[in-house]
Amino acid sequence: MNSPVAGKNVVLCVTGSIAAFKAVQLASDLVKAGALVDVVMTEAATKFVTPLSFRAITHRPVVTDLWAPDAELEIGHVTIGRRAEAVVVAPATADAIARLALGLAADAVGTTALATTAPLLVAPAMEPNMWAHPATQANVAVLRARGAEVMEPGEGRMASGHLGRGRLPEPPEILAAIDRLLTPRPRDFAGCHVVVTAGGTQEPIDPVRFIGNRSSGKMGFAVAEAARDRGARVTLIVGASAVGPAPSNVEVVPVATTLDLQSAVQAAIVDADALVMAAAPADFRVAAASDHKIKRARDEIVLRLVPNPDVLASIADWPGFKVGFAAETDDLIANAQQKVASKKVDLIVANDVTAPGSGFGTDTNQVTFVFADGRVEPKPLMPKRAVADAILDVVATGLRRGPAP
Ligand code: CTP
Repeated sequence: MNSPVAGKNVVLCVTGSIAAFKAVQLASDLVKAGALVDVVMTEAATKFVTPLSFRAITHRPVVTDLWAPDAELEIGHVTIGRRAEAVVVAPATADAIARLALGLAADAVGTTALATTAPLLVAPAMEPNMWAHPATQANVAVLRARGAEVMEPGEGRMASGHLGRGRLPEPPEILAAIDRLLTPRPRDFAGCHVVVTAGGTQEPIDPVRFIGNRSSGKMGFAVAEAARDRGARVTLIVGASAVGPAPSNVEVVPVATTLDLQSAVQAAIVDADALVMAAAPADFRVAAASDHKIKRARDEIVLRLVPNPDVLASIADWPGFKVGFAAETDDLIANAQQKVASKKVDLIVANDVTAPGSGFGTDTNQVTFVFADGRVEPKPLMPKRAVADAILDVVATGLRRGPAP
């Protein structure tokens, strides 16, 4: 079978890391798989590997200099960026990631990345402390929110002798990621409107304090992103506790309290086909939130809490496809089965928040699907994006079948 990269224009951007030598292997693997590979290098990258190495493998000119006299003719970075079907930055240094996040265009790699509308894959390589630094992580989050795929670097011994996470992923792993990028995604949600909720709500106690929960919003963001990629129009209702930028190209509705969330959901579902309630709405609110900051006092304070509405249950009659979540610490399946019935949803995605790799703030999740018809399907530990696609597979099947009579 032909590789998905066969006949595709792949631009390989190489930046200045000791791991640049592995990009030579990657270029060779891409060429063997039938890709048309254009290599763009930063000046720093040329200190580690010569352009000639890439030229010999790709049989094409290598772009290193924005100011070369013929740069704007056949092989200019703009031309290359325009015709690219995938742009891969490997290795991507911390500096390269920061520049990509800012959209800087002072070198051939930055300009190529800006000139393209092709999907972007970033394979980082740097010292573990640089990878873990909040500045790098924030830049990675910006790129991911913009739709780029930033791979997780590998763990092990670095060229410096340090141990940790920061190694360039191996060329076969990068090639597999490029294959995925170039494999056409199903557009099975074209023409559908999907409403997704994410993050936790916050209930004010006074103007500076609130009752909230630990929901990071990552699962809901992943569902919104996946639905967008599969062709849906997406409304993403985001609770105040969500962290990080929301995905691009979706309509974002920020909400604070559970009552706000309920109104936003009711408004958004009017013309929607499906609702995925990944949000964690606070179940109680303070009966009489203070308009003024409550001052410290020696006496105890009693806050009276009143129940918030169950948002899902309040739209029980809505005919669209409904997915709820159940984050539990005990009796996972029994609780999920009870929620499928009481909230009248088509699917409950149940997860044990105490299981390793699952729950709040993680990038992975191990969930069990509990269906309205009683079926129970445990899933393996997967990245949240893969969980999102598995949920959407169920939604797509449900939408094709149409509403129950
Ligand atoms: N949910 C909702 N309205 C609420 C609380 C939760 O619509 N007021 C939704 C959540 O978005 C989730 C599902 O219901 O999709 C289950 O949430 P969970 O907090 O597990 O359920 P609760 O009904 O609050 O049950 P409990 O907290 O008692 O486990």
